[in-house]
Amino acid sequence: MTSPATAILLAATLIGVVSAATRPPDPPECVPEPNQNLQILHRDKFTVLMNGFSESRIPLLQSLAATYSLSPIVSSVLVLWGNPATSPRVLHRLAHNLTLSSSSSAPISLLLQPSTMLDI
Ligand SMILES: *[C@@H]1O[C@H](CO)[C@@H](O)[C@H](O)[C@H]1NC(C)=O
Repeated sequence: MTSPATAILLAATLIGVVSAATRPPDPPECVPEPNQNLQILHRDKFTVLMNGFSESRIPLLQSLAATYSLSPIVSSVLVLWGNPATSPRVLHRLAHNLTLSSSSSAPISLLLQPSTMLDI
């Protein structure tokens, strides 16, 4: 039998990269500068990194980010947006929605990637 924590970790690993990190000081109100939330590491919790690209999959991305954010072993969720063609209006709305959905759990941040490459 798989525990919920194990299932979350497994899912996070399948989606992207899980690394030890900390809770950023405050959830951002709008799109943060790259690396703003990548400064401090935690020993006992995880930061979930998720890659996003397709606007049609934003509802799924939001739902998964909100689920990770509710886990007691997750300190923050970083959504790395890799589609430079997405309009600022959609990105602002997405950042706002992510902030709202993490209001009583681990913060979710949207980090814009300068290119479609998967490196950060
Ligand atoms: C933000 O949330 C609103 C209300 O749920 C939804 O209609 C809209 O599609 C969402 N937009 C983005 C970009 O997430």
